[in-house]
Amino acid sequence: MCGIIGYVGPQNAVPVLVEGLKKLEYRGYDSAGIAVIKEGQIQVKRVKGKIRDLEDCLKDSVLEGSCGLGHTRWATHGRPSEENAHPHRDCSGTLVVVHNGIIENYLPLREKLQAEGHTFVTETDTEVIAHLVERRFEGSLEEAVRKALPELQGAYAVAIISAGDPDKVVVAKSGPPAVVGLGKDEFFISSDINPILSHTSRVVFLEDREIAILERGGVRYVDFDGRPIGKTEDQLSWTPLMIEKKGFKHFMLKEIFEQPQVVRDTLQGRISQGSGKVYLDETGLDAVALQEIQRVVIIACGTSYHAGLVGKYFIESLALIPVAVEYASEFRYQDLMLDKKILVVVISQSGETADSLAALRATKKSGALTLAISNVVNSSIPREAGAVLYTHAGPEIGVAATKTFSAQLAALSLLALFLAQIKGRMDDESSLPIVQDLLRVPHQMERFLADSRRLEDLAQRFLVFSHFLYLGRWVSFPVALEGALKLKEISYVHAEGYAGGEMKHGPIALIDEKMPTLAVIPRDRAYDKMMSNISEVKARLGYVLAVAFDNDQEIARHVDEVIRVPSVNSLLSPFLTILPLQLFAYYVAARKGADVDQPRNLAKSVTVE
Ligand code: F6R
Repeated sequence: MCGIIGYVGPQNAVPVLVEGLKKLEYRGYDSAGIAVIKEGQIQVKRVKGKIRDLEDCLKDSVLEGSCGLGHTRWATHGRPSEENAHPHRDCSGTLVVVHNGIIENYLPLREKLQAEGHTFVTETDTEVIAHLVERRFEGSLEEAVRKALPELQGAYAVAIISAGDPDKVVVAKSGPPAVVGLGKDEFFISSDINPILSHTSRVVFLEDREIAILERGGVRYVDFDGRPIGKTEDQLSWTPLMIEKKGFKHFMLKEIFEQPQVVRDTLQGRISQGSGKVYLDETGLDAVALQEIQRVVIIACGTSYHAGLVGKYFIESLALIPVAVEYASEFRYQDLMLDKKILVVVISQSGETADSLAALRATKKSGALTLAISNVVNSSIPREAGAVLYTHAGPEIGVAATKTFSAQLAALSLLALFLAQIKGRMDDESSLPIVQDLLRVPHQMERFLADSRRLEDLAQRFLVFSHFLYLGRWVSFPVALEGALKLKEISYVHAEGYAGGEMKHGPIALIDEKMPTLAVIPRDRAYDKMMSNISEVKARLGYVLAVAFDNDQEIARHVDEVIRVPSVNSLLSPFLTILPLQLFAYYVAARKGADVDQPRNLAKSVTVE
């Protein structure tokens, strides 16, 4: 939710900031801007629109400087416009701020500052930060920032530069992420590692209530009380190549095709092919405490929530432990009945989703065991959870989650097997068949994807429809939800995901020839009942497109069209059945000319509640 970047070093900061913003653009893309210091002057360029609009605006400018900031915005306070785009200035225009997060008390602060004579020119919450720092500035930028911070309530990662204390970027974090990149005589600050990757693999992740001061000679760190702190350097394992499109038209399509490999990578090294034993020692899970677990609560948002719903079936089927799956944004308002016999699993690919982080924090005092499932090493949720199971999906740039969903399914299948083994519900012998089925999944995903061109033509035929129903039962219910989410978020077509059996309790009233149904119907324990639900749709003139197993001889007689996926152990079918739904959504959106990788109103990392 907004991306910030900063640079100090020997290069011209402008191209460094613009290239960096392109890599952060998935975090927000309604306006963008940069600011650099040159010869004691701060120069700012901002635009409404995307980074390519910023580039156009910079074409005829002579902007340059060796220290600067950049921002790509996802609007919260104030509509998307050039004035509301960051960086924001103080009254004198000699100090500018970029900010990711929300300042909750900005209105009283603004009134107070206005009463003191400060002039505001934007509708944003961020502008108060510039004026607060201006008010405290006596020559040292870090001192002014430090004195201003106690007045702020809310969440922020802020970076600030000042012509009065040049060649310096001061960054403070309380909530949203901020990572420092350590190059050779050059230093970077960014909301995530993507812009840093092409410059250096040495990074330092800031914690809450920490300030980094980036100067030409190096980086210093202090806490909010000004005490110097030692920070540990991390070495990145992601490479710049991982954030290239590699010949695909969109990141989303590339990421859909990467799924077999990310499932393989997430399973690798954690499962014994010979014995079926699962090893999750690296996670920090306490095996003794886990033996006492009586309930699992999974908390997540969006696609991660859908993965959590699939995880419920995995854990209940294999480990026989009851599982509740909760929306993170709702969980916090519930009466939390948690204790040390409950395992709380927070799933978040970014590891930064504010609702999920807040839900995790709410569980802390209960004594419940906590486990994060995340794709981003050292992001906030993994850092705060008691244990971490990382997915190995590599960077996901398309705003619509695809490969991280499959990687989360892989992680949850491992967790289910691990819990089953720890609790003695499965031994090596009984684990082996499902483990072998699981290890075959990536190959079956590859088989489907290799022959999936038909989806493109199929999608073309469905462009005329404005409403879709997605149905599934048992493990296919969350797949239906996820398929519908993919279609609506990238193609702006209305799609409802529903449990097949619930359709007759309301949504059936919508069915007519103008509302096609995508039915997810692998051969599983719900097959016959799902077949009845399909008949109910057909009886009302509804068109049915089924996603079914390739060995299902029956289905074609009951539906209008079938997309076949390789047959697998039915519990594991979501790994396969989600693929055509992702591709269907992708091709519908691409054919409509939608901005597939950056759908309107969305952002990859939702760091506001
Ligand atoms: C949908 C999508 C979102 C995210 C949600 C949670 O395609 O990407 O629904 O799944 O914002 O994000 P994470 O997993 O980063 O917590």
